[in-house]
Amino acid sequence: MAPYKTFRERGIVHDTPKPLIGNINLLVLLGRAPFLKLLVDRYIELKDHKIYGFYNMREPFFVLRDVELIKRVGIQDFEHFINHRPMIPEAGASMFTKSLKELKDDKWREMRNTLTPSFTSSKLKAMFELINECSVEGVRYIEEELLKANTGEIELEMKDYFGRFANDVIASAAFGIKVNSFVDKKNQFYTLGKSVAHFSYLVMLKVMLYGIMPSVMKALRIKLFNAKKIDYFNSLVFDAMKYRTEHNIIRPDMIHLLMEAKRQFQQNGIPEHSTEHAEFNDEDLLAQCLLFFFVGFEIMSASLCFLTYELCQNPAVQAKLYEEILSVGQELQGKPLNYNMLSKMKYMDLVISELLRLWPPAFSLDRVCGKDIDMFDENRELLAKFRKGDVVVIPIIAMQRDPDNFPEPELFKPERFLEENKGNIKPFTYLPFGLGPRSCIGNRMALMEVKSIIYHLVSKFELVPAEKTVQNMMQSLKGFNMQPKQKFWIKLVPREAA
Ligand code: HEM
Repeated sequence: MAPYKTFRERGIVHDTPKPLIGNINLLVLLGRAPFLKLLVDRYIELKDHKIYGFYNMREPFFVLRDVELIKRVGIQDFEHFINHRPMIPEAGASMFTKSLKELKDDKWREMRNTLTPSFTSSKLKAMFELINECSVEGVRYIEEELLKANTGEIELEMKDYFGRFANDVIASAAFGIKVNSFVDKKNQFYTLGKSVAHFSYLVMLKVMLYGIMPSVMKALRIKLFNAKKIDYFNSLVFDAMKYRTEHNIIRPDMIHLLMEAKRQFQQNGIPEHSTEHAEFNDEDLLAQCLLFFFVGFEIMSASLCFLTYELCQNPAVQAKLYEEILSVGQELQGKPLNYNMLSKMKYMDLVISELLRLWPPAFSLDRVCGKDIDMFDENRELLAKFRKGDVVVIPIIAMQRDPDNFPEPELFKPERFLEENKGNIKPFTYLPFGLGPRSCIGNRMALMEVKSIIYHLVSKFELVPAEKTVQNMMQSLKGFNMQPKQKFWIKLVPREAA
């Protein structure tokens, strides 16, 4: 099909695309301008349009601006928009195609139903200890570094720091092994995991080339990920399952929950109405573990970096959070932090909600139209026509930074989410975890992880800007990265000395 005809033919507003790169800005592509800023600015400019077009290389994306349409796609007409766009459409079958995010239609439905019970509050409560242990280790590491440095304060690059923390959480909570990447800096789990999960420039380049010339890439059998590295995780999971089965060991982590889910799935058999059947063999189980690794590593460390950055920039917010932490500490009377106490922290909730508004790590989400649909509003006015294969995009960060939705959007104001102010938030304009049946399955786990490490960090240290701390974060995010070139430097000052 001739490229760049879709929006013209459908009468959808869009910028004139450039050969090969479509509407991707050249400065973004060269890593000189922030993609996120352009996404937000364009969204705000096109205020009067319900949908606008964006050619991602040669692929047309229908960007939704209208909340009614977003609700229809995500919830009411979900049956027409069940699937996510495959991460790399033409990359063929790989372990990732078996992961929940990539699975389609009935296979997705069955896997989602199978995995959902693993993410309930009671299951996560049991996992809390494992996560909290990693937070305690993380804070102990800083205390030891401070002692060594003997300077009374310490500057840390938080992406590296939280990468290690997130890694240890996944190792323990998902893969069932205990590592301390703060002390054992080059442990295999961390070094291999980082190279797999981190979207290096080379991987990004391959993804782009798949977008521009899929058949050539496919013919050349260019692989995105190194199979040997994946094999390491393969044996890790399979050996752990074998060992546990043979020795009757139960550890409250993801491997255990997935082994249970697999057993349950096999007991239940195949659902009657299913046309395509999900399997749940060991490979399916590994695929979910790897997905959790990807999400856990990049998304979690990015969220934590932005959170500590905002706490540095907003000392009054940090002081209020510290007050809450002190009062929880008093209530605990020297006992270790537990899941229930963490869940009671109201101000912590507000702070994290505001973080996910300003810096949603999944800054946009997509759905693929599976069946043609014409959407009408209540007056039978045509809202939109979507055809099978259309990719629709919900630009989460732009909606959450639109002054019409959130006044003074650049400001970090946790109070927006107070019970008495929540009514001012228009429905479907705040979607950090997505919406509808395909929303994030790991949201509770994510929140638990963020709260646990932030509780321990802020209780021990005051977070203040360091000399190398970025001044204007948005301008410093170059290309598609959610990380400034200067990285996330922060100074930590022990509380008792503050
Ligand atoms: C702050 C952290 C996180 C944020 C903001 C986040 C956000 C999201 C978003 C926006 C989606 C797409 C939702 C949609 O299309 O409507 C998603 C999907 C998903 N997330 Fe998360 N996520 C986070 C952490 C996690 C963690 C820790 C896990 C795993 C333990 C996880 C597992 C998943 C999975 C498996 C999916 C795909 C669900 C499906 O297709 O059914 N996420 N997440």
